[in-house]
Amino acid sequence: MTSHRCHSFSSSRIVKMPHLSVQSLVILSALASGVAAAAVDLSQSSHVLSLTDRPEATVTIVISKTITTCPSPPPPPLCTSSVVESSDPDSTTGSFVSSTTGSSSFGSLEPTDSSTGSFVPSSVSSDIIESSTTSLSSSSYSTSAPAPACTDFWLEKISHQGVAPFGGNGYRVFRNVKEYGAVGDGEADDTEAIQLAISDGGRCGPGCTGSTKTPGLVYFPPGTYKVSAPIIDYYYTQLIGNPGCLPVLKASADFQGRWLLDTNPYGANGLAWGATNVFWRQVANLVIDITDIPPEKEVSGIHWPSSQATSLSNLVFLSSQEPGNLHQGLFIEEGSGGYMGDLVFYGGNQALIIGNQQFTMRNITVHNAKTAIQKLWDWGWTYKGVSINNCEVGFDFTSVSDQGNLNVGSVTILDSEIRNTPVGITFGAANAVSPPVANNFIFENVRLDNVPVAIRGPSGTVLGGTTGSSLIASWGRGHKYTPTSGPTFFEGTLPAYSRPASLVAGDAYYERSRPQYHEVPLSEFVSARDAGAVGDGVADDTDALNALFASAAAAGKIVFLDAGMYVVTKTVYIPAGSRIVGEALPVILSSGAYFASASSPKPVVQVGKPGETGRVEWSSTIVSTRGAQAGAVLIEYNLASPVGSPSGLWDVHVRVGGFAGSNLQLPECAKTPGVTITPDNIQEECIAAFLSVHITSTAKALYMENCWVWVADHDIEEGANNQQITIYAGRGLLIDESQGPIWLVASSVEHHQLYEYNLVNAKDVFIGQVQTETAYYQPNPGADLPFASLAEWHDPVFTNPNDSGWGLRIVDSTGIILPGVGLYSFFDNYNVSCSQIGQGARCQNRTFSIEGNSQVRVYNLNTIGTKKMVTVNGVDVANYEDNLDGFVHTIALFTTEED
Ligand SMILES: *[C@@H]1O[C@H](CO)[C@@H](O)[C@H](O)[C@H]1NC(C)=O
Ligand SMILES: *[C@@H]1O[C@H](CO)[C@@H](O)[C@H](O)[C@H]1NC(C)=O
Ligand SMILES: *[C@@H]1O[C@H](CO)[C@@H](O)[C@H](O)[C@H]1NC(C)=O
Ligand SMILES: *[C@@H]1O[C@H](CO)[C@@H](O)[C@H](O)[C@H]1NC(C)=O
Repeated sequence: MTSHRCHSFSSSRIVKMPHLSVQSLVILSALASGVAAAAVDLSQSSHVLSLTDRPEATVTIVISKTITTCPSPPPPPLCTSSVVESSDPDSTTGSFVSSTTGSSSFGSLEPTDSSTGSFVPSSVSSDIIESSTTSLSSSSYSTSAPAPACTDFWLEKISHQGVAPFGGNGYRVFRNVKEYGAVGDGEADDTEAIQLAISDGGRCGPGCTGSTKTPGLVYFPPGTYKVSAPIIDYYYTQLIGNPGCLPVLKASADFQGRWLLDTNPYGANGLAWGATNVFWRQVANLVIDITDIPPEKEVSGIHWPSSQATSLSNLVFLSSQEPGNLHQGLFIEEGSGGYMGDLVFYGGNQALIIGNQQFTMRNITVHNAKTAIQKLWDWGWTYKGVSINNCEVGFDFTSVSDQGNLNVGSVTILDSEIRNTPVGITFGAANAVSPPVANNFIFENVRLDNVPVAIRGPSGTVLGGTTGSSLIASWGRGHKYTPTSGPTFFEGTLPAYSRPASLVAGDAYYERSRPQYHEVPLSEFVSARDAGAVGDGVADDTDALNALFASAAAAGKIVFLDAGMYVVTKTVYIPAGSRIVGEALPVILSSGAYFASASSPKPVVQVGKPGETGRVEWSSTIVSTRGAQAGAVLIEYNLASPVGSPSGLWDVHVRVGGFAGSNLQLPECAKTPGVTITPDNIQEECIAAFLSVHITSTAKALYMENCWVWVADHDIEEGANNQQITIYAGRGLLIDESQGPIWLVASSVEHHQLYEYNLVNAKDVFIGQVQTETAYYQPNPGADLPFASLAEWHDPVFTNPNDSGWGLRIVDSTGIILPGVGLYSFFDNYNVSCSQIGQGARCQNRTFSIEGNSQVRVYNLNTIGTKKMVTVNGVDVANYEDNLDGFVHTIALFTTEED
């Protein structure tokens, strides 16, 4: 969370942008909000922007000279009930009727589409399916029913019984925009109706600091929705279109505004919500069309300054393709993301113009933009599966602040392609003077086709391309370390790296998008409320959920976990064969004595029993605790899936404290930095979890995407005004002797005591981006309180009470690949000064420990507030001051393999 993270937007990373006459207001507002948010008391409105903070009013963006003629994409098809799929991402006959799964040029382990209902793919060759490990017959998920027409999407037709226990009487979670008067015929102006669907029911809009009490799922049936002014998104909102027949949000020719969908509008005090405090929202399955807006107007499809547990997915952005147009598909200027994927962009001056602390972006296709991806600033960013076609510049990392600082800290690009584009990647503007270690890059498996300049640096081409086909197998620049060497500056081709085979599908790391089941008929779904679960935050739903999950798995049905708060007083067991999808992030909330003892930890949700085989798909759910739960293990994952067809968890988040119903808010757990915390005075009622996520020794073939494991550092609810709280949770995410493969894509774990990530005797694990934050209270108390270090839980041992917990610890583990890592320590007992530039990185001494016989490869390690960036078997191998990169410290490549 917080506020302070916007330091990248302070003077060292002020972004200069084109057309400042239009954007200066935005920049100044962004700056104001960033500076205000840096105040530890978080009172944003009290800050007055000083004139000396004002960025310069001129900028230069390097754009190549050649104008490429861009063929027009086809218009979106009319909505019909037949689903047409284009297998060629470049196909000019393709349609926007899309599938969120299915094959791609980057290879899936599964040639068939799991959303069709055939869960175990029949055409996977037997040598990659370990048939003995699957307890399912391939027919148990098959349905003979024909795929429904897109107008029969189950989410639209299912009974809408979701509740919000704190939302007030009659509060509606599900909102179909047509029930609020939207017409969707491409003629009527639907702006007000859509806005009403979003705002109805006293929800948290601009002016409200945040709220989990009023979740909203705003649904768009197929249609073309004309809008004439920005649609303002609210807090905790899911904007979801029909995935089988994408609805179009179409700006009118006389559209007034800077963005079509404004998810964080500017007001007098800057952004409505501090961009690092925008959580739990998504936009999915829409066409964002601004092509009717005159090309000379600078306007973007979506404005998305957002943070963790957010996503943009399965969207098509249509911008002008006129030469010289000023359109932009996606605009992000700050925040702490986040995930986005399955996006297709056509046209624009920039398809994406984006800055944020960190992000994971996957499966992004750009056609016919001037600059495909222009970075404003970042600390770390992991791109995977980007396809750029017919642009002038692919990736532009040349952004420079008015002090001459390069704004782009580090970027990892994996498994991507650039075609018919004169300059593939450009970095390092000639006028840049600092920081010492900026523009860190690792590019791996990037295919080029007709890209005459592959990579351009500040003084010209650094890697030539061709008009034919070529491959960047591995190229990078920045500092390299091994356990015994570094810093070594490198710029150029890197030795070939042989990826762990089990993590790879085809020639790319495995990836798979959240299933939406739009090709499954409504009759295949069972609702939790229909099954007797109440979800009101009071009733004990343990038995109802257990019975439902067991019967649904046995019958091959998909569980619809209606919005609500499901209190459980014993373990909820999710058996092999389960498919579970939540509505607007329902909460499974542990409560009571069963989870209260640290000497007898119990899973809140257990996925598979130890040793169980089979598969699950689980998405869009939060697992939490209520009150003191020192024995709660929020998610225990035991299931062994076939290596050829992994299980998946998407948007399954852990949230400990800080929200209504948790009994772990400001009144109970206010921070106490002025009190020295000892075993005698520690607040037992705020000890809220033993371990957040436990991936056990029997777990195998698990894919997790966009899962945020968060111990609250502040009270989210309106009225608390984002004030900080102290919640104790022992351990973050433990991978405990699993032999893999495991993928954690867009993964974040924050504010636990002993560690955020701990990998022990693990094998074949991909995590990228990795993002952590050290608990803000540490070292008062230090990492030795309140939970004792337990050998049987593979806990680290801390001997100095001044130590803070590990951000990332890897013990006796092999095949560990970490493309993009941010380990942040912002505070020392809630005092933020230890992490500020020039203050000696003195929040904690160490944050990343590699122990025993481990084989680890890290791309773009970024740390904050920490003196030693990597420690191997107790020996510090990298000092922060050798790797200064603005607010962060960066190592482009760390590998345990000695040269
Ligand atoms: C990538 O995104 C496109 C468009 O949303 C989708 O059709 C395709 O299935 C996705 N590919 C993968 C591998 O997820
Ligand atoms: C812990 O920190 C305090 C304050 O900086 C210092 O006085 C003390 O010596 C430290 N203790 C140890 C064991 O390093
Ligand atoms: C935070 O730490 C700095 C430097 O150690 C100190 O000058 C300042 O007074 C501290 N702030 C608070 C609120 O304690
Ligand atoms: C860092 O290590 C020194 C020496 O052991 C210790 O005195 C100090 O307290 C540590 N500081 C932090 C912030 O952990």
